[in-house]
Amino acid sequence: MTPTLVYLSVVSIFFLQSLVIFASYEKNKEIYIVHLDLPDESQFFSNFEDLHDWHHSFLPSNTDNSSSSRMVYSYRNVLNGFAAMLTPEEVTLLQDKEGIISVRSRQLLDAQTTHSTNFLGLHQNLGFWEKSNYGKGMIIGVLDSGITPDHPSFHDEGVAPPPARWKGKCEFNFTVCNNKLIGARYFHEFGNGTPLDENGHGTHTSSTAAGNFVDGANFLGLASGTASGMAPLAHVAMYKVCNASLICSESDILAAIDAAIEDGVDVLSFSIGKNSTNFWSEVVALGGFTAMQKGILVSCSAGNAGPIPGSVFNGAPWLLTVGASTTDRKLRATIRLGDGKEINGESAFQPKDFSETPLPLIFPGTNISDPTAAFCNAESLKNIDVKGKVVLCISGGKITRIGKGSFVKDAGGAGMILMNSEPLGFTILADPHVLPAAHVSYADGLKIKAYINSTSKPQATFLFKGTIFGDDHAPAVAGFSGRGPNLASPGILKPDIIGPGVNILAAWPKSIENNNDTKSTFNLLSGTSMSCPHVSGIATLVKSAHPDWSPAAIKSAIMTTADLVNLGEKPIEDERGVPDDFFATGAGHVNPLRASDPGLIYDIQPEDYVPYLCGLNYSNRAVSMFVLRKVNCSSAIPEAELNYPSFSIALGLEAQTYTRTVTNVGEAVLSYVVEIVPPQGVDVRVDPPLLNFSELNQKKTYQVTFSRSSTSTINATFVQGYLRWTSSKHFVRSPIVVTLE
Ligand SMILES: *[C@@H]1O[C@H](CO)[C@@H](O)[C@H](O)[C@H]1NC(C)=O
Ligand SMILES: *[C@@H]1O[C@H](CO)[C@@H](O)[C@H](O)[C@H]1NC(C)=O
Ligand SMILES: *[C@@H]1O[C@H](CO)[C@@H](O)[C@H](O)[C@H]1NC(C)=O
Ligand SMILES: *[C@@H]1O[C@H](CO)[C@@H](O)[C@H](O)[C@H]1NC(C)=O
Ligand SMILES: *[C@@H]1O[C@H](CO)[C@@H](O)[C@H](O)[C@H]1NC(C)=O
Ligand SMILES: *[C@@H]1O[C@H](CO)[C@@H](O)[C@H](O)[C@H]1NC(C)=O
Ligand SMILES: *[C@@H]1O[C@H](CO)[C@@H](O)[C@H](O)[C@H]1NC(C)=O
Ligand SMILES: *[C@@H]1O[C@H](CO)[C@@H](O)[C@H](O)[C@H]1NC(C)=O
Ligand SMILES: *[C@@H]1O[C@H](CO)[C@@H](O)[C@H](O)[C@H]1NC(C)=O
Ligand SMILES: *[C@@H]1O[C@H](CO)[C@@H](O)[C@H](O)[C@H]1NC(C)=O
Ligand SMILES: *[C@@H]1O[C@H](CO)[C@@H](O)[C@H](O)[C@H]1NC(C)=O
Repeated sequence: MTPTLVYLSVVSIFFLQSLVIFASYEKNKEIYIVHLDLPDESQFFSNFEDLHDWHHSFLPSNTDNSSSSRMVYSYRNVLNGFAAMLTPEEVTLLQDKEGIISVRSRQLLDAQTTHSTNFLGLHQNLGFWEKSNYGKGMIIGVLDSGITPDHPSFHDEGVAPPPARWKGKCEFNFTVCNNKLIGARYFHEFGNGTPLDENGHGTHTSSTAAGNFVDGANFLGLASGTASGMAPLAHVAMYKVCNASLICSESDILAAIDAAIEDGVDVLSFSIGKNSTNFWSEVVALGGFTAMQKGILVSCSAGNAGPIPGSVFNGAPWLLTVGASTTDRKLRATIRLGDGKEINGESAFQPKDFSETPLPLIFPGTNISDPTAAFCNAESLKNIDVKGKVVLCISGGKITRIGKGSFVKDAGGAGMILMNSEPLGFTILADPHVLPAAHVSYADGLKIKAYINSTSKPQATFLFKGTIFGDDHAPAVAGFSGRGPNLASPGILKPDIIGPGVNILAAWPKSIENNNDTKSTFNLLSGTSMSCPHVSGIATLVKSAHPDWSPAAIKSAIMTTADLVNLGEKPIEDERGVPDDFFATGAGHVNPLRASDPGLIYDIQPEDYVPYLCGLNYSNRAVSMFVLRKVNCSSAIPEAELNYPSFSIALGLEAQTYTRTVTNVGEAVLSYVVEIVPPQGVDVRVDPPLLNFSELNQKKTYQVTFSRSSTSTINATFVQGYLRWTSSKHFVRSPIVVTLE
């Protein structure tokens, strides 16, 4: 082999060898991620051993004679660099070396689950399953806390053997992989020597994306039905990068993406992330770029830091960023107050023999000299007689929802009403409480407080009504779901989409017992960790129906076909019960059926991100970190010029014009007319307003101009609208958010 091959193509053809020796932590040493400049031509490597040696040459060889014990990972695809154990002194020396772009300590990320637990029957019958062949032949790689290989959700009935291109491994030391679970690997820092799931999160997310059909799934006798993931016949490959506490290391994540790219996954699902204001310090953005270059769609959670503005995670435009919404399934626990008023809440613990006799009701938060008492901490409850009473508790105060219930129970309480704090509004979670309980919204909590204040003998009881379907307000954005603007790139609207992420039932490693009731190996969790694998599974179905579509094309299909209205045909609401904005929903709520047949797509080639990154004013070196070749930022575009399926514009008095290109993937001969719903005070012009297509895959370009239609002051920091191409068969909608300057 001649040593003149380019860097990237060389390293990517080599299979992962376990030449990484993980050193145990030594006192003053930490793991650092070292980013190197791209090698000069003379340093192109003909094989991975040479690359590895070159990485080693940067490590100190003075006192510690074994540099190999320092090397944690020598990366091959995701970045030009390595992760190593270093002391602060060594880091200082290294930073001054030529050829080093950055040396930064690897950080720990969290999985994006709100810590609820437990539950019930996911029954998703999508007509689109047949068309997309249930995801057959596709491989979803999941980066998470591991997997439970013998869970019924991962049986392989009806699943074909993995495709020949699959090169992954099953690192369980017993034979457990099958045609469903085709790969399972662990990474050094948090893998703990096994891909086995020590938390449950990874089992849950994997089964949500691609669990097989399991008949008779139910939780404690409630909501029984057939459970399955979104792509039930797709293959699953687990990359374990998080430990039992759901802490995940950046160096492991990069190594896992490195491996997944070589193994041959089609879609990568990450329910992991962190807040940041630039993409080069985000491992999901860095590794996700290389994955996208290889045609892998990367789907990520938008984070659970909502509802504050700017709380969205994983905002790079090459990632599909997924927020969380409610569904119309409720585990109804109704509160009947002493005055006869009924208030609906939820609980996953539904005692069958609960007597509906009114019980005294008390709110510990009325003690003004103990401001934490409202959260029902154990200490505060000691001062109060709660025996035989129903106790009203406010969520938060660093006590888990279920934990508050156990404090109340331990203090002799008979029941708990859990009310939301204000920011979480109407987002209600059904938890397996340890005592009769109901979780209610902030608004309903205020009503209960007012009732308590209005009478000398407040009383309450619970009516447990089991599983109820039907909620005209669903889907609604969950209070915790991460919101735009996208701080790292305000010109790209994020999140991209929302999907189910509240009270999601999926596989769980252990059986869950709730008092004496039946056991369940399914569990109910909430978070953008749960919405991400739903959309990852849907993206897999779209890819299965259209194997030649790029990641950007699949994203576009999912975004332009999304729903803006809830089951009640009203605009989707947020946790406050008010019509939502696109900084919460992105393009809207995912609609799998329509996503497979979008009519037109906004495609983006990997090279198109170069002028975009240059336009973010990243240095040549920084842009090279993503594209892994030397870049000269001679051409740069504004963010809004990227061929993205949505718009986020900061508009002053000067008009702004952008170009978009759509590709016809519907019927060969079809005309599309533009419809515009302009944001308040903004004029949106599209030229041409009509696009006639005469063949498949034909591309047409249009220009869109934004200008202020009135100079009168608008009482809002941003305004929104959309533009929509409509044919007799399709609509292709792009949301528009305009921040007024
Ligand atoms: C490191 O040096 C020590 C003492 O000089 C020697 O015993 C040991 O074998 C060396 N280790 C390696 C890996 O070279
Ligand atoms: C797997 O390997 C570990 C460590 O060697 C061992 O403790 C465990 O028993 C093995 N499990 C099986 C099922 O072989
Ligand atoms: C997970 O890793 C974090 C950070 O190293 C550590 O604090 C925590 O104890 C670990 N959890 C478990 C269960 O090992
Ligand atoms: C990220 O979150 C941490 C902790 O909440 C905060 O201190 C930091 O300022 C945030 N960073 C950004 C870029 O928002
Ligand atoms: C109110 O809180 C204070 C401070 O924790 C405590 O000492 C007192 O006993 C409480 N009073 C009542 C009536 O609970
Ligand atoms: C309780 O009621 C009194 C009198 O009706 C009122 O002044 C007070 O503001 C109320 N407190 C709360 C917390 O609602
Ligand atoms: C659990 O079962 C035991 C024995 O069958 C029974 O005495 C007890 O009341 C049950 N508890 C609940 C909460 O159902
Ligand atoms: C990049 O720098 C130019 C010139 O200073 C500035 O006009 C532009 O707003 C910057 N872009 C971003 C995204 O910061
Ligand atoms: C980048 O490109 C410009 C224009 O083509 C050229 O003038 C400049 O020298 C180049 N810079 C580098 C560092 O190659
Ligand atoms: C597009 O097609 C429509 C209907 O076939 C036709 O009326 C119209 O003239 C065409 N417009 C252009 C610009 O080709
Ligand atoms: C602006 O809107 C907010 C909320 O919609 C309202 O409370 C406020 O009074 C308005 N201000 C003006 C100047 O209209």
